[in-house]
Amino acid sequence: MTGERLLTIECLHAGYDGVAVVRNLNLHVDSGEVVALIGPNGAGKTTTLMTVSGMVQIMSGSVTVMDRLVPRLRQAHRAARWGVSHVPENRGLLFQLTVRENLLLAKTRGRVNIDRAMDFFPALVPLIGRRAGLLSGGEQQMLALARAIVAEPKLLMVDEMSLGLAPVIYEELMPVVRRIADDAGAGVLLVEQHVDLALEVSDRGYVLNHGDLVMQGDASEMLADRAVLDASYLGAKSLED
Ligand SMILES: Nc1ncnc2c1ncn2[C@@H]1O[C@H](COP(=O)(O)OP(=O)(O)O)[C@@H](O)[C@H]1O
Ligand SMILES: [Mg+2]
Repeated sequence: MTGERLLTIECLHAGYDGVAVVRNLNLHVDSGEVVALIGPNGAGKTTTLMTVSGMVQIMSGSVTVMDRLVPRLRQAHRAARWGVSHVPENRGLLFQLTVRENLLLAKTRGRVNIDRAMDFFPALVPLIGRRAGLLSGGEQQMLALARAIVAEPKLLMVDEMSLGLAPVIYEELMPVVRRIADDAGAGVLLVEQHVDLALEVSDRGYVLNHGDLVMQGDASEMLADRAVLDASYLGAKSLED
């Protein structure tokens, strides 16, 4: 189902208070593919996702979501209506509300397909009436993902899904991200610290370092060439060592 261009980022400079922390970024995501956006802490990964969602100001360049230009001025409410779901680093759940209520709140375009979310995360079925705050970390991350997919997004962005979770939990969640692209035809932009796991479920990858795009390519080739990938994390200087 790969094909439709969902996200195009061209020559993007974005940041805070007039200081660009992402510079000259070019990136795209098509339907049916998982794209990993990786790189060390502070590289600009979260800033990139927030720019697509309209929460960080575009200083120059452009972000196009399904033929629509994301406006230069911050306008966070638009992205969801355009078919973008964003699972933020803090997961964005309402702890006092139940699993079902959190899912119902994800309604953006008139429909909420809870059954579909349960199909991806059957472990949530017996927890449907439980308050989100009482779930385990892994269950909360499942709910955050389920919340993102009930609105049937075309583009799903997930920020640091594995943060704070035990390996046994995020190793189970990664293949579900792949399934969201394969079964639902969504394009997924996956920000991850766990580089190998992310690349294993991805088609392509981009490495950001200090706001610059330092490497991009086929995920399997990036995994195969660990030396170059590791060096991209350390910066250009290390490539020469
Ligand atoms: N709200 C903000 N105001 C000012 N600077 C910020 C803000 N958020 C992030 N930054 C800075 O932008 C840079 C990129 O951060 P971020 O996008 O969060 O990186 P990553 O997600 O790759 O760890 C860092 O230097 C960070 O300190
Ligand atoms: Mg981040």
